[in-house]
Amino acid sequence: MLSNSSPAYLTGFGGHFATEAVSGALPQGRNSPQRPAFGLYAEQLSGTAFTMARHENRRSWLYRMRPSADHRPFVRYDRAPRFKAEAGAEPLAPNRLRWDPIAEPAPGTDFVDGLTTAVFNRSPAELEGVAVHLYAANADMTDRVFVSADGELLILPQQGRLDILTELGRLEIAPGQVALVPRGVRFRVMLPDGAARGYVAENYGAPFRLPDLGPIGANGLANPRDFETPVAWFEDRDEPTEVVQKYGGELWTTTLDHSPLDVVAWHGNLAPYRYDLAHFNAIGSVSFDHPDPSIFTVLTSPSTVHGRANVDFVIFPPRWMVGEDTFRPPWFHRNVMSECMGLLTGAYDAKAEGFAPGGLSLHNLLSGHGPDVDTWRKASEAELKPHKIEGTMAFMIESCWPLQVTAEALGRAQSDYDLAWADFPKAQLP
Ligand SMILES: [Fe+2]
Repeated sequence: MLSNSSPAYLTGFGGHFATEAVSGALPQGRNSPQRPAFGLYAEQLSGTAFTMARHENRRSWLYRMRPSADHRPFVRYDRAPRFKAEAGAEPLAPNRLRWDPIAEPAPGTDFVDGLTTAVFNRSPAELEGVAVHLYAANADMTDRVFVSADGELLILPQQGRLDILTELGRLEIAPGQVALVPRGVRFRVMLPDGAARGYVAENYGAPFRLPDLGPIGANGLANPRDFETPVAWFEDRDEPTEVVQKYGGELWTTTLDHSPLDVVAWHGNLAPYRYDLAHFNAIGSVSFDHPDPSIFTVLTSPSTVHGRANVDFVIFPPRWMVGEDTFRPPWFHRNVMSECMGLLTGAYDAKAEGFAPGGLSLHNLLSGHGPDVDTWRKASEAELKPHKIEGTMAFMIESCWPLQVTAEALGRAQSDYDLAWADFPKAQLP
């Protein structure tokens, strides 16, 4: 059932939703009746082990026109050669790295073929780690879908809107919004603006959740009600449809004789969602100093060590700066976590130049970084009036494991990034 109308959404984070695109399609009182309505097939999609604690358990029941099991063997897919988490032969030096946005793609490049892997750690088989990919595309995915069995996908558009048609419903996002597609959910990306560019963080580990708030209390940062999950939607299309699947770090393909976006009803708490970063309730100091950037965590994927994230998704949104006797930009630091940053719009408050929207930077485990010389000088001399940082949205994918860099990304890193920290004057002792 294709529709041009805007999709509808259910609100809340990790809730147990129930939705049907055709009245009567969703079984009542049980998950797997002997004969589901209309001859639909019941299928459970799990996002965590069956035996996970209840508060961490994620799964949904899908009622679809054909079972997902009906497909022929996958074979290797070779049309997205840069979409691969593979380091070069040499060990990675402990250097800070920064990149300009990736180049315009060739005409006819869709979301899948337009993906380029930049940084990554661990491996999908370990069920831990993260990869950060960049995408640049100018064509719709018309007769195919993509799915990652390796991780959930956090999609961050930087230019151009995306219509993401998933098995569980349709998500529309524009720059400033993000979407999450769970591991194993098939989807197609359409480009209503004709061209699109942005980032994808692929989380191999525990599904993203909202961070604990501790003394902040019951409200603040990303509030659950601002997350939107689409209602059930499906297409009844008996035409050849390619399924490109990422599995074990490699890409595979098979072709069905129908669209797999044929889930007529579903219920459960494993589902895609979108979030508008403008809803993030930023919290900061109203006295002096500024808190650690963990205060800007939108979503977190915990590791097995309490308090140490497999991946944090952090943003640096517009906000007031009011600290007294305070150096207000991010301070100099060496962090035991590894930081990959992107810029969605505007300028980042720690760098005067060189970090463009669509660009990327990497500050790995314990590499010294912070404001560049110009930013440091200006902030050291500034009159400390209340000041609003506006028109900007940077983000960080932070991980407890050092990030590797693909050979392709290493080859096009900026050659002069270290100069951002050259020529600081020496302190003068009495
Ligand atoms: Fe940092």
